[in-house]
Amino acid sequence: MANFDVRQAYLDFFKNKGHEVIASAPLVPNDATLLFTNAGMVPFKSIFTGEVPRPTPPIRTSCQTCIRAGGKHNDLDNVGYTARHHTFFEMLGNFSFGEYFKTDAIAYAWEFVTEVLKLPKDRLYVTVHENDDEAYEIWQKHIEKERIYKFGDKDNFWQMGDTGPCGPCSEIFYDQGAEHFNTSEDYMGGDGDRFLEIWNLVFMQFERSENGTMSPLPKPSIDTGMGLERVSAIMQGKFSNYDSDLFMPYIDAVAGLCGKKYEYESGASYRVISDHIRSVTFLLAQGVNFDKEGRGYVLRRILRRAVRHGYLLGIKEPFMYKLVDVVVAQMGSHYTYLAEKQQSVKEQIRLEEERFFTTIASGLELFNDELAKTKGVFSGDVAFKLYDTYGFPLDLTADMLRDKGLKVDEARFDELMAEQKARAKAAWKGSGDKSAKGDFKELLEEFGENKFIGYESLESNSKILALLDSEYKRVQSLGVGERGWVMLDSTPFYAQSGGQKGDSGEFANKANVLDTQKFHGLNLSCVEASENLSVGDEIKAVVSSERTEIARHHSATHLLHAALRKILGSHVAQAGSSVETNKLRFDFSHPKALTSEELDKIEAFVNLAIVNGAVAKTEIMDIEAAKNSGAIALFGEKYDEKVRVLSFGDVSKELCGGTHVKNINEIGAFFIVKESGVSAGVRRIEAICSSSALEYAQSLRKELDEIKTELKSVEPMMAIKKLKDEIKNLKQKAKNAASSQNLDFFDVSGVKVCIAVAESGDIKTMIDEFKNQHEKAAIMLMQVVSDDKILITAGVKNASIKAGEWVKMAAQILGGNGGGKDDFATAGGKNAQELENAVRSAIEFVKEKLA
Ligand code: SER
Repeated sequence: MANFDVRQAYLDFFKNKGHEVIASAPLVPNDATLLFTNAGMVPFKSIFTGEVPRPTPPIRTSCQTCIRAGGKHNDLDNVGYTARHHTFFEMLGNFSFGEYFKTDAIAYAWEFVTEVLKLPKDRLYVTVHENDDEAYEIWQKHIEKERIYKFGDKDNFWQMGDTGPCGPCSEIFYDQGAEHFNTSEDYMGGDGDRFLEIWNLVFMQFERSENGTMSPLPKPSIDTGMGLERVSAIMQGKFSNYDSDLFMPYIDAVAGLCGKKYEYESGASYRVISDHIRSVTFLLAQGVNFDKEGRGYVLRRILRRAVRHGYLLGIKEPFMYKLVDVVVAQMGSHYTYLAEKQQSVKEQIRLEEERFFTTIASGLELFNDELAKTKGVFSGDVAFKLYDTYGFPLDLTADMLRDKGLKVDEARFDELMAEQKARAKAAWKGSGDKSAKGDFKELLEEFGENKFIGYESLESNSKILALLDSEYKRVQSLGVGERGWVMLDSTPFYAQSGGQKGDSGEFANKANVLDTQKFHGLNLSCVEASENLSVGDEIKAVVSSERTEIARHHSATHLLHAALRKILGSHVAQAGSSVETNKLRFDFSHPKALTSEELDKIEAFVNLAIVNGAVAKTEIMDIEAAKNSGAIALFGEKYDEKVRVLSFGDVSKELCGGTHVKNINEIGAFFIVKESGVSAGVRRIEAICSSSALEYAQSLRKELDEIKTELKSVEPMMAIKKLKDEIKNLKQKAKNAASSQNLDFFDVSGVKVCIAVAESGDIKTMIDEFKNQHEKAAIMLMQVVSDDKILITAGVKNASIKAGEWVKMAAQILGGNGGGKDDFATAGGKNAQELENAVRSAIEFVKEKLA
């Protein structure tokens, strides 16, 4: 049975049992507690916990792409060395949200395994949690008691992460046969490969909170997970997932690239590469970029680990990008977005590989030098240097030490890492401390979140609900001149978020509003009081007129985003943005610098949209409906279930909580000021609009006028060209003047000898000319650059003098050193007072040699 058929059979089986088939959710979950989607249940977490109502039907099935690299359930270190570990895999699952529970889950699983996959019953075993008598009973209806094993929490309790849904589980095992596996670990519960877990049925009953307590879920639920890779391997009679049709095409391709035959025993590197190319391709295709931290750093670690294994196979140039074609060929029919992103993903990988290849050789040299000195533990300082200077992630160094049986001094590495972070933090001058500790929780409990009314109005009569001092502690009043934070019952001030700057303004006649920020959902304005402010006061809140400019720049950012996707391609994903009164900045994923034609087109697209105009329309929608309607949402961003969707005609549609113009023609004009790189695969555009754009255009004109005045020409380009030509001519003249200097020379045994101190001119040309003029020549020129710097150059032709020895001798008298070839040599001296002496000795030297 091919992997494709296993996947289809599973989804069809559960569809027939009334389950809705759900497409795989993104690898970056809509959940800040997880690095990656690491199990099939992750997209349904909030249904399990009851935060989101049960769907209809309340039973689902999916084939979910997962990544286990970093965070809980991290398999990276083992990949390549075992038959089953992967960074990327597909998990088949069926889910019940309070509908069926253990009895049906077990019956379905048994039916699928024995009747669809037709695995022989005498090869199957199951495990249950030691306290789960219910599951133990139910299983006995399907399988003999002797084949049911009881284990504790370590084996039979599953949880998504440190927090989240969890519960006891029951696993189905397949016996691969004592004839193939017979180590002392090959028993049920042992570490051997004979008994292979193929399916995990989790009986979800609890939710674990941050402090570790477990509370019951609203309804007992089911989450099951079956690894497509291992089931495919079993169905194909293979003992390793890597021997199945899911991996062999990659292994063959790697063998083709390195020109060596793959053998299982020595083939870890082939397997590492085959696994890693799948993770890397899927992550990039889904908008994750190579980065110095977070998910992007895990992505970088995976790629670099693969590149290093390629290096071990003798591949010394970028190659991973070529394997993207294999991923698309193998998986593109099920995951159709892969083909769309194929070219840009290849380009991103190639560039990242090139970057790593520039340091890999020197890094390996440092590693090997240290390895030769290592007795017990590999130095944490060197591991840190490898990381910091050569881009070797720590787990890559650990991986390189693995077959030597050595470990890294991780404690020292962590210490150096912490020091570096502290240094970076000290150098960072941020504004607004969102992690600030203060009385926010108290305010939330007492008042809940306060309402933002600033979409509709820029002024309001509001009441002061609470005041905080500059340390965020509650106070009853702020005196004249004092600074603090104000919570209004409803506020027109926009709190900084989504890249948009926080509003400023005033409380009429009472206070200046300097900034507005969000703290744990509370919208608080930072004020400086010009009158006493007390809790309970009614004030008139007035947002600064700057807001109009901010809104224009924010709407222009949306148009820019749309233009980028239109002109560069749909791989463009927002990676950050900042919107201020007089400028905007937009970071986005794109593998290379933009050409000036691309920039022109983008600018033209945005300006045309402005001229055409389009009315802003906002709708509050369900997140899923919003995404389905084509609104741009950010990968990895945590959205509420209800979101605000903003569209400008058919030009742009995005999820956004910010404030905007009513019609895009209010933006006026739009100019790109700068395009630059932020990090690998991420570009930045800085732009301006509205009155800032006008000011910008005017300042350019002014600058040009000044240039014209300075050049005394109305055609500055012509004038510059003329100036450049003049400079070139002058340089040539100076050169000629120097070379035509009459150099005094004398004859020693037929050789024309010149030893002189040259005031100016191009020494090398002078020497060449002298050598051209005479059949046998020896010339030494010294040039005083400063009191302590003398250049000595010598040329020899058809004479038994070695120029290298000659200049060295002179340089030593001048307190320096140097040397060179027999016919031409240079040296440097330090002591100008010795010049005469040096000249005299140089003459002696010649006479002696030519005598
Ligand atoms: N969540 C469980 C697992 O990942 C079952 O799907 O094993």
